[in-house]
Amino acid sequence: MAENSDAPLKLSVIGCGYLGAVHAASMAELGHEVVGIEVDVAKAESLAAGRVPFFEPGFEELLRRSLDSGRLSFASDMADARGAAVHFVCVGTPQRRGEYAADLTYVEAATASLIEVLGPGELVVGKSTVPVGTAARLAEQVAARVPGAALAWNPEFLREGFAVADTLHPDRLVYGVPSLSGADTAVDAEKVLDTVYARIVADGTPKVVTDYATAEMVKTAANSFLATKISFINAMAELCEATGADVKQLADAIGHDDRIGRKFLNAGLGFGGGCLPKDIRAFMARAGELGADQALTFLREVDNINMRRRIRMVELARQVCDDSLLGKRIAVLGAAFKPDSDDIRDSPALNVAAQLQLQGANVRVTDPQALPNVRRHWSQLDCVDTPEEAAEGADAVLLLTEWKQYRELDPGSFGKVVRTRRVLDGRNALDREAWESAGWTYRALGRRNV
Ligand code: UDX
Repeated sequence: MAENSDAPLKLSVIGCGYLGAVHAASMAELGHEVVGIEVDVAKAESLAAGRVPFFEPGFEELLRRSLDSGRLSFASDMADARGAAVHFVCVGTPQRRGEYAADLTYVEAATASLIEVLGPGELVVGKSTVPVGTAARLAEQVAARVPGAALAWNPEFLREGFAVADTLHPDRLVYGVPSLSGADTAVDAEKVLDTVYARIVADGTPKVVTDYATAEMVKTAANSFLATKISFINAMAELCEATGADVKQLADAIGHDDRIGRKFLNAGLGFGGGCLPKDIRAFMARAGELGADQALTFLREVDNINMRRRIRMVELARQVCDDSLLGKRIAVLGAAFKPDSDDIRDSPALNVAAQLQLQGANVRVTDPQALPNVRRHWSQLDCVDTPEEAAEGADAVLLLTEWKQYRELDPGSFGKVVRTRRVLDGRNALDREAWESAGWTYRALGRRNV
């Protein structure tokens, strides 16, 4: 073989939020020389000093190791990306205000400023989640401005809470390459990406090499499928509530069929976060633009089912509080959109907490990691550090994010701080028998007794 596919490369990573910061440090871990470009100077400085501006298990160790190796640095000026063989675009694509569509401002701005420093033979690799058609458009801009440079699309599938493992050991690699997308370039994008991911490829990770549109759609299709799976089981929970059946046993039973599988069949408050909700909405918006909106109308129902769970949780809280929330003390355990994360974007837990408070309840929220974010963005909510403080004198305790430390609470001693032993398990995560035997009234979405 003429070339060594393990040869370390010089890489840049544009945008060092959640995805970019983890990607940059992971690429340095794989042996490459990486510069992370982050326009937020404070964030870039914090990362360069080995301080992680968000909570992600295992990431700080990885970041420090990569910085210590001398292979990772951060900068705020795009000029520092000059000369890298591969430039990863990892900026956010949030939902547009008041619309379903994705806001591509950051992707477009990042690409435009990258083009100013891009050289021939270099490869731009998009990792952000974008509406199908974006990569082809950006590829044209790159080709027009920097002849000899090329663009590939390489979506990521990392989950918060598992970001490091998902980046270093992904369950698949997807490359949308120019040669299969009708673009004519001298850069062999597949070969370059194989060099970047040499260790991951050598692990036998499945790889799909395809055109831009398919690569873009893999990401939105995967997230739509996951959202649909969650809303499916939550729709079953609604029926269980109407019939007296038990959704947890139902999920266990259908999950034994390995065509269905038990994963992502946990009924409860439903999905939130910075990805699933906005990605299914942006997918619907894009389908509409393409004249294919009928194909995705079911996602509107997926979204509706999901949002209904939050309303149902508030109703359930009212029911157990003798049909009135006014002046009732409610303890909310969990604020992050899921455990092992401090991310509160579209958090079902906070949505419920705020509704309860609006309806006159006296709410106290606790979370092991997300409180600084809650205090910053939801200043109207009363935050306390421990579950015991939250539950002091409570009329009801709501488990809304299933952190391990909440799942492992001892219902006996915890019961001593509340006024009335009522627990609402919004994530079907507690040991129901243990709580009931400690004298608690237990209620959950989609379970018997509801
Ligand atoms: C998701 C995708 O899993 C990931 O592949 C993609 O790259 C980004 O979006 P993430 O947002 O980190 O990742 O969270 P995920 O673990 O998928 O959970 C999403 C939401 O669904 C959470 O609010 C979680 O509580 C909820 N959920 C998950 C359920 O309600 N029930 C389940 O069975 C599983």
